Amino acid sequence: MSDKVYPVPAQWKKRALVNDEQYKKMYAESITAPDKFWAKHAKRLDWFKTPKKIKNTSFAYDNVSIKWFEDGVLNVSVNCIDRHLKKRADQTAIIWEGDDPYYDKKITYRELYEQVCRFANVLKKQGVKKGDRVTIYMPMIPEAAYAMLACARIGAVHSVVFGGFSPDSLAGRINDAQSKFVVTADEGLRGGKKVPLKANTDEALKKCSGDEKVVVIRRTGGAVAMQAGRDVWYHEEAAKVPAECKPEKMKAEDPLFILYTSGSTGKPKGVLHTTGGYLLFASMTHQYVFDYHDGDIYWCTADVGWVTGHSYILYGPLANGATTLMFEGVPNYPTASRFWEVIDKHQVNIFYTAPTAIRALMGAGEDFVKRTSRKSLRLLGSVGEPINPEAWEWYHRVVGDDRCPIVDTWWQTETGGILITPLPGATKLKPGSATRPFFGCKPALVDDKGEFLKGEASGNLVILDSWPGQMRTVYGDHERFVQTYFSAYKGMYFTGDGCRRDKDGYYWITGRVDDVLNVSGHRLGTAEVESALVSHPKVSEAAVVGYPHDIKGTGIYCYVTLMAGEQGSDILRKDLVTHVRKEIGPIASPDLLQFAPGLPKTRSGKIMRRILRKIAEDEFGNLGDTSTLADPAVVDDLIANRQNKK
Ligand code: WTA
Repeated sequence: MSDKVYPVPAQWKKRALVNDEQYKKMYAESITAPDKFWAKHAKRLDWFKTPKKIKNTSFAYDNVSIKWFEDGVLNVSVNCIDRHLKKRADQTAIIWEGDDPYYDKKITYRELYEQVCRFANVLKKQGVKKGDRVTIYMPMIPEAAYAMLACARIGAVHSVVFGGFSPDSLAGRINDAQSKFVVTADEGLRGGKKVPLKANTDEALKKCSGDEKVVVIRRTGGAVAMQAGRDVWYHEEAAKVPAECKPEKMKAEDPLFILYTSGSTGKPKGVLHTTGGYLLFASMTHQYVFDYHDGDIYWCTADVGWVTGHSYILYGPLANGATTLMFEGVPNYPTASRFWEVIDKHQVNIFYTAPTAIRALMGAGEDFVKRTSRKSLRLLGSVGEPINPEAWEWYHRVVGDDRCPIVDTWWQTETGGILITPLPGATKLKPGSATRPFFGCKPALVDDKGEFLKGEASGNLVILDSWPGQMRTVYGDHERFVQTYFSAYKGMYFTGDGCRRDKDGYYWITGRVDDVLNVSGHRLGTAEVESALVSHPKVSEAAVVGYPHDIKGTGIYCYVTLMAGEQGSDILRKDLVTHVRKEIGPIASPDLLQFAPGLPKTRSGKIMRRILRKIAEDEFGNLGDTSTLADPAVVDDLIANRQNKK
């Protein structure tokens, strides 16, 4: 942990939306008088009907219910587009930067309006109705944004599936959402490599109901099979429909989107976000955390397949009439200077990325950064996993030339928007700390029994009351929502994260305390990787844990027991890695895989993951009590055959 403190720079004190005194005042009001506070801030949105009922929420275990602004009526696409047309029709809404640096384009708010209306009409013509789920499996091209906003316009619920997921993962999500519509592209392009999105969709749909419809965007022009009656080309359909589409009037609590995310058990769950509270929270956090002023060029490097892309490429920025940059490529293509070149090319003022990217680029050396100017940068942001102080310092010194504050923003798919974060004009920074709660967020630390920890302490991070951006339920399974988030500590939302609070009341997130891995900022359940492994015919049992990885933050360590008579070999190891990639997607690729004749189990047959974690972490001396093991000898074998870190 770092004890260095970075004060708010003088020029920030002058121009920032909020200083420390204002932060404290607003925060206090948001906690003591939430109805008044949020009624006032709800005015930042345009409502067809202004809400009178503000907060109606309960975290009680037997009655978890979350409603915000429930009598309000609005439309998200109107808030993100139509209402800006009077003042900023010709302002750029989206800057698109292609995978190949030669290609970019700027989309004004007027163009965005036409594109989204057209897309909405195409969806309607395919039969999409209010409340229907539309799966979006796309590369990072403007059409992904058009498709999402088009759903919002007609009241359909989008479910974006990250383009790196496998056909199986896609099929699981289509089926769980009972989605009858898929929007995809012929192929994606990342780092010069093609991603066969349409072929993957074809593969996935073999495992679905058979009555889906598919809209295909032409991105690369690569050859794809089109199935008559099921698949249509977007450009052909778009030419037949008008560029005007009346927005649906949506209740604040009508669903806006589902986004699948991994938990500690079972299959990924469909996190459901609704219309009013989500948009208000995304827009407000975007403005205050990034201190967004009119005219700023803002770039979040996430993919729209993750929640960061939803809230901070699309909904937050567009609701604020911002110029938001959307990047198709990867940080190291064509070279490790790419991010910094894009910043210079488009004069980016605010840059928001993930620690894993920072660590990887740090490894490539300062020269790649220093050969660019980056004078336009004013503010840097970090999200997705704890940022180690070394990476923070490098980001600050090398990328930001010691000039730009860093907002280390802690939040989750479930929270809809940022919950713990510095505000650049208000908060002194400590490298590695997400610092203080945003308005409306009431964090606390509890021990494993649920007792509150006071003052300086380490424990489990819980949130004591609802905020407008909170997820409302797990799609189709409210009981799972209650069990996952409200059963560990009754009356509180459990985040799944461990956290330390220092003497100044600053929060330091230490990482997941459940069986969720955070691999390069992507969430994965150990159970998902295990179930992929045991679906291989030669595998009888598997246990997966995380271990510290220099670039990825957490690496994936797999212990695999083979079927009787099978022999472990390098070929089989490679085969298993390929199998997991195929089952889930490349993000789940095991880093280390050890063949284990036996796994450490209690006498009742429960795998002792604590021991497996210690071995993976190289902490053999610290295995704790192994006396309850059914067969303590397996531990010696595991230690003797531990795989080395890459
Ligand atoms: C982790 C991403 C430390 C955390 C927005 C959380 C972080 C999980 C930070 C959610 C941060 C996210 N510092 N850890 N600034 N931001 N995390 O749902 O473990 O993909 O629970 O949402 O990422 O990941 P998710």
